[in-house]
Amino acid sequence: MLQLLNGAHVAGAVACLAQLGIPDLVEGGPKSIAELASQVGAQPQALYRLLRATACVGVLSEGPDGTFSETPMSAVLRRNANPSLRGLAIMGGREWHGRGWSHLEYCVRTGRQALEQIYGTPVFEFFKQHPEEAPIFDEAMTGLSTIDGPAVAEAYKFDGIRSLVDVGGGHGFLLAVILAANPHMRGTLFDAPHVVEGARTGPLKSMRERCTFASGDMFSSVPAGADAYIMKHIVHDWPDDLCVKILQGCRKNVGKDGKLLVVDSVILPGNEFSPSKFLDLQMLIFPGGRERTEKEFQELLAAAGWRLNRVIPTAAVDSIIEGVPA
Ligand SMILES: C[S@@+](CC[C@H](N)C(=O)[O-])C[C@H]1O[C@@H](n2cnc3c(N)ncnc32)[C@H](O)[C@@H]1O
Repeated sequence: MLQLLNGAHVAGAVACLAQLGIPDLVEGGPKSIAELASQVGAQPQALYRLLRATACVGVLSEGPDGTFSETPMSAVLRRNANPSLRGLAIMGGREWHGRGWSHLEYCVRTGRQALEQIYGTPVFEFFKQHPEEAPIFDEAMTGLSTIDGPAVAEAYKFDGIRSLVDVGGGHGFLLAVILAANPHMRGTLFDAPHVVEGARTGPLKSMRERCTFASGDMFSSVPAGADAYIMKHIVHDWPDDLCVKILQGCRKNVGKDGKLLVVDSVILPGNEFSPSKFLDLQMLIFPGGRERTEKEFQELLAAAGWRLNRVIPTAAVDSIIEGVPA
């Protein structure tokens, strides 16, 4: 139990390490505390205590001469890493994130999400109003996509699909990986206006001739005329009634051979450990969604005019839930 309770301390220390940019500074070789402290503007003794702590869980390594060097676990926290978990680590240390988790009891008692109660605005509105936080969230999402994007592109055969809309596609990493692997396809990245602005200089930049950027509100409408709609980590963000609106919007716009590709984890029954069961609590805190079982996906798709055709596992935690017009 002590080890479990220590988990928050470990995540906090790793978040701080990433925020200071230490993993970037040790990429070229071991560095002394004095060098690192002067480069990041830290108090040397306090910085030493941070690095000693993260090194004891494999994130950096302390040498006999007191220098610190890179490890595989610290390398994924570098800005230039691929895959990179830097954004996700930093997001875990942001005040709004911590305040959300400190309100879990409120969420469990009421079934309501916490961030809206704390800040008086839904989380994606909060990002619009806090331009310093939005890029951290977007980087966290892109970082996750560096892991599950290639896994999705590998697991699904896009042969019969010529045009694809990525709904809530963030900065476009997933769409870029899919277009790169499928030269016959065109893609549309659809997201909120401030996110699409950031996406223009992102991973899709070199694919301009096969890609369109569109912005709007996915609960009102989605770009029309695609053979398929994909959405990764969108359905798990929202309660059923709002998901139905998004899925109905997609259904309205596809022909009889159209496809819906929902990329999310599928919760398995029983006591087996799964990070998705904790991500599910994160969704409860903000933005108010949930992870779902296969049966719950089946019912959700049916309520929006789709039939769950199959669930395709990927090499990552996520599966691809394929829907066809009912
Ligand atoms: C959890 S992120 C997932 C991003 C991306 N699909 C990925 O997997 O990296 C949710 C995305 O939904 C977008 N979003 C939220 N509300 C939206 C809305 N009403 N209309 C369009 N996009 C929205 C957010 O801006 C964000 O990029």
